[in-house]
Amino acid sequence: MKWIKFLMASYASLFLFSSSLMAVGVKNDPVEKKIDKLISRMTLEEKIGQMNQISSFESIETMGEFVKKGSIGSIINEIDPIKINTLQRIAVEESRLGIPLLIGRDVIHGFKTIFPIPLGQAATFDPELVKIGAHIAAVEASSVGIKWTFAPMVDIARDPRWGRIAEGCGEDPYLTSVMAIAMVEGFQGNGSNDPTCIAACPKHFVGYGAAEGGRDYNSTFLPERLLRNVYLPPFEASVKAGAYTFMTSFNDNDGVPSSGNEFILKQVLRKEWGFDGFVVSDWASVREMISHGFAADDKEAAMKAVNAGVNMEMVSMTYFNHLKELIKEGKVKQETIDDAVRNILRIKFRLGLFENPFVELNKPSVMYSETHLEAARRAATESVILLKNDNQTLPLDENIKTIAVIGPMADAPYEQMGTWVFDGDKAFTITPLNALKEKYGNKINIIFEPALAYSRDKNTDGIAKAVKASEQADAVLVFVGEESILSGEAHCLADLNLQGAQSELIEAVAKTGKPVITVVMAGRPLTITKEAALSSAVLYSFHPGTMGGPAIVDLLFGEEVPSGKTPVTFPKTVGQIPVYYAHNSSGRPANGEETLIDDIPLEAGQTSLGNRSFYLDAGSEPLYPFGYGLSYTTFEYGNIKISSSELKKNDILKLSFDLKNTGKYAGTEVAQLYIQDKVGSVTRPVKELKRFTRVTLQPGEKRTVNFELPVEELAFWNIDMKKVVEPGDFNLWVGGNSCDGKEISFKVIE
Ligand code: BGC
Repeated sequence: MKWIKFLMASYASLFLFSSSLMAVGVKNDPVEKKIDKLISRMTLEEKIGQMNQISSFESIETMGEFVKKGSIGSIINEIDPIKINTLQRIAVEESRLGIPLLIGRDVIHGFKTIFPIPLGQAATFDPELVKIGAHIAAVEASSVGIKWTFAPMVDIARDPRWGRIAEGCGEDPYLTSVMAIAMVEGFQGNGSNDPTCIAACPKHFVGYGAAEGGRDYNSTFLPERLLRNVYLPPFEASVKAGAYTFMTSFNDNDGVPSSGNEFILKQVLRKEWGFDGFVVSDWASVREMISHGFAADDKEAAMKAVNAGVNMEMVSMTYFNHLKELIKEGKVKQETIDDAVRNILRIKFRLGLFENPFVELNKPSVMYSETHLEAARRAATESVILLKNDNQTLPLDENIKTIAVIGPMADAPYEQMGTWVFDGDKAFTITPLNALKEKYGNKINIIFEPALAYSRDKNTDGIAKAVKASEQADAVLVFVGEESILSGEAHCLADLNLQGAQSELIEAVAKTGKPVITVVMAGRPLTITKEAALSSAVLYSFHPGTMGGPAIVDLLFGEEVPSGKTPVTFPKTVGQIPVYYAHNSSGRPANGEETLIDDIPLEAGQTSLGNRSFYLDAGSEPLYPFGYGLSYTTFEYGNIKISSSELKKNDILKLSFDLKNTGKYAGTEVAQLYIQDKVGSVTRPVKELKRFTRVTLQPGEKRTVNFELPVEELAFWNIDMKKVVEPGDFNLWVGGNSCDGKEISFKVIE
C-alpha cells in the first residue's frame, strides 16, 4: 500500500482543483476579455469553424486545408503526436487568427494502461483510486497531444441488457456522482497549469441509460421528477467538479432528442447549474434527429441543435454546411453563435492551448510505466467481487498440488481489457493463466484446458479434456464470461446467461465433485444463478484490464482479500429486469412470503398468494443485491449512534458505529449508509445510498466509524417539482450491502 500513498501524495497537488475557476460572473476575467476580443475579430465562417469537429478519418492534407481556413475547431481520433503537432502548427501559424485545435479521443478506462471498465472501477467504492486511474489515463493520453476525453460516462443504468452499462458506474445516483467527481478531477488535474490535464466530458446528457428494453439508441420515457432525482445528479456533480465539456445523448426523451432539447441544455445545464464550458453533440447525433423524425433535413437539424444549446457538432457537418444560411434567414441568432464560440474558446484557454498547443516529442515514454501498472493492478484487485465462498474454498492454499485452469477467459488478453479500448495493447495484458504460471508455476502443477476457444464458442469437443484435467486437480478454476465485444455501444443482449457452451462446461467440471471456483470476467452482471449454485466460490470481475491476471491471482491465493461490492443489482433471470434496490415502494410490496410457482397448490384461490409484488417464477429478490460482496474475513456492525434523533433542515446528521473484523484475515469493508424518507409528498425509494467508506481492519480490530450527512442532502424533487427536504420520519441503515444493516430512525423537523 505504500506506493499508493506515494502516488496519492504526489498527485495531491494536482487535485487541488479550484472550482472558483468555473464561477459564473467571469466578466472581469482577463481571459473573458481575450475571448471577446478574439470573437470581435472573427468572421462568421471562422466562428462556425470553431463549432465544427471532424474525424481524423480525413487525410492530413484535407484536414490541414480545413484548419488553415479556420473551418475546424476540433479533431476527434487523431493520436499521432507528429500529425497533431503538424495540424496545430497550421492552426496557430497559418490560420488567420491562430486559434489552436482541440484534439479529442475516447479515453474511457485508460489510454495504454487499461484499468478495469468503469463499472469495475465503481465496484471498488474507492474514489481516490478512481481519481488516480483517470489521472494516469490523462498523463498517457496528453503525452501524445490528446487534450480532451469523452468521459466519464455517468449514465445511470438499471438494465444490464444495455451493453453500455459497462461504461458507467451502475445503477445508483450517489455512487455515480462520487465517481463522476473523481474522474473529472482525475482527468482535468490542475487545469491550465497542468500539462497533463485533459478536458473531461460527462456524457451522455441525458437519460441514455434508460433506453427502452436496454436496446441502445432507443427512446426513454423519463418524467421530469425521475430525471431530476435519479438521472441528473451525477451530471450536476460533474459540473460542480468543474467539468469542461458535456456531450448530449442519442436518445429522445418523451419525444425530444437530447441534441435538440433546450430544456436540459439551457434551463437545467446553463441556468440552474451555471455550466460555462461547452456542449458537444454525440457522433452525428445532430443529423440523426432526421432519423428520429424530429428534423426534416440537415438544415433543420442544425437549427434545432444550435438553438437548443449544442455548441459543437461532432462529425456530421450540418453546422458547417447550414449555419451561415440559417443566420441570414434569421432562424439562428448571431448571439447564439457567439455564445457557442465563447464557450469553446473558454475551454481552449482553460486547457492552456493558447500558450502551448504542441506536444513535446522525444520525451521518455510514460506508457505502461511501473507506477501506472501498479495502480491498474490495485484498481483491478479492489474491483473484484467475491459473490460466493462456501466452506471457505477461497483463498487457495499455496501448498495445493494441482490446479486445473479451465475456460475461455483464462488466457484472453484482448478480451479482459473490456469495451472501449482503442489504444491499449493486448501484448501488455497479463492474463490469469500467465500470472499463475509466473507466480506458482514452480510450485503448483497447473493443467490448462480452456475447453472453449472463446466465450461464444458452442463447440463442446474440448469439455472432455477439461473434465479429465479437473479429475486430476485439487481445485478447478473456471474462467468464463464475455468477450469484450459483447458489451459496450450497440452491444446489447436479450439473454444474459453465459454465452456459448460455458454453462455446460461448468456443469461438466462440477460433476467431478472437485471444488469449482468460477471467475467471471464480463462487461455487465450476467444471470449466473445456475453456475453460481454449481460453484463452491465465485469471483466476479467486470473486465479488469491490463493487470487483471495478477490481481485475480493475488485474490485467489489470499495475498489480497476481496473488497469489491456490486455497483449494480444482479438479476436472477433476465425477466426480472429492471431490478434495482432504490425502487419506490408499491402499495403491496413484497414481504418475503412468496409462494413460488412449484409450491402453488392446484386450483389455488385467486387471492391465496397474498397479492404482493413478485414473480411467481423468480420471486422478488435479485441474485445479488446492490452493494454486496463478501470478504475472506467477516465484519460486525454495532453500537450505532446518531447525534440527535430530531434534526432541522440546516443541521448535519452525525452518525457513528463500531465496525469489527470478526474473522481471521485483515480485510477492507465498504461500509454503506442508506436512508429512507418514510413519507413524502410523492412516493420515495425504499432505500437510498448516501455515504460509504472503505475501512481496513486487522483480525479482531474494532473501529468507530463516523459519517456526516448534511440534512439538506435528504432533499428531493417533490410534488411541486421543487428540491426540498420534507420534514418527517426517516429510517437509516449502516451495513455491508443494500439488504442488510443496523437500523436507526430520526426525524426532520421544521
Ligand atoms: C458514443 C460516444 C463517443 C463518441 C465518439 C459515440 O458513438 O456514443 O460515447 O464518445 O461516439 O467516439
